[in-house]
Amino acid sequence: MTTANALHTTQLSDRHFRSVAQLIEQQVGIKLPAAKRLMLEGRLHKRVRALNFSGIAEYVDNLFEEGLLESELTHLIDVVTTNKTDFFREPSHFTFMKDVAVPALSKTRGRQELKIWSAACSMGMEAYTAAMVLDDMARSSRSLRYRILGTDISTAVLALARQAIYTSDVLAPVPPEFVKRYFLRSKDRASDEVRIVPELRRMTNFMRMNLMDATYPVDRDVDIIFCRNVLIYFERETQRKVIEQLCSHLRPGGYLMVGHSESMIHSVVPGLKQVQPTIFRV
Ligand SMILES: C[S@@+](CC[C@H](N)C(=O)[O-])C[C@H]1O[C@@H](n2cnc3c(N)ncnc32)[C@H](O)[C@@H]1O
Repeated sequence: MTTANALHTTQLSDRHFRSVAQLIEQQVGIKLPAAKRLMLEGRLHKRVRALNFSGIAEYVDNLFEEGLLESELTHLIDVVTTNKTDFFREPSHFTFMKDVAVPALSKTRGRQELKIWSAACSMGMEAYTAAMVLDDMARSSRSLRYRILGTDISTAVLALARQAIYTSDVLAPVPPEFVKRYFLRSKDRASDEVRIVPELRRMTNFMRMNLMDATYPVDRDVDIIFCRNVLIYFERETQRKVIEQLCSHLRPGGYLMVGHSESMIHSVVPGLKQVQPTIFRV
């Protein structure tokens, strides 16, 4: 193979970029502008290597012309999604949850469990942060009961969320008393891994769900929904549909929290009651 050919096999042509970008927008809602081409190219290489194709062109041709798409879509989604997350990310939401939302919602919930939903949960840090805060509150309020659901489109991150094993560098934003109480250290002294305690894992379920779906298989009386740092990737019309559909799963008085770079959703769905720039109430 000549150098020119070798280079060619590693590059994504305009036509192939447009086909893949269109597919991703249809299936996942994420728009991939031309500026993301190099990023997409880099990420597709993983799949090209995993499937032993000679290059990206062969991989994309197989997707669309040889029926590869059916078996490949999940992997493709895994490689194109951005999964950055943290424990206690945007911590003011968890302070609001503890000081305002949970006290208000518990009054009307009585002894029933509070339902919290981390939609687009990535590796589970958002769901487990909520679990830590609620478990801590439950120590002084014995009637407080809760359940947490985490959903995401990517099967790869959901597997990590269910496992709940992380390297210890992710503990930096976690308050020290929570690190002691809610994380187990590996028995292997050479290992750098920590795991969420079983008590919190038992309260937290994870399920694959696409926010683009026409209906969501989730209860209609959720107390708090976190949908953070995913709406930003969607077109305005998709944002509107997703927010309206999420809100239809909140019970009256329930809260929706979006990421701090997503406060613009207020103008996308004007009927939303804004409590704080990124917190809404139905
Ligand atoms: C940047 S992470 C945000 C994680 C967490 N919410 C946070 O703020 O830390 C975005 C997540 O959205 C997920 N995602 C993207 N498109 C989605 C869709 N259509 N349906 C469900 N999840 C989606 C990605 O797989 C990724 O895990």
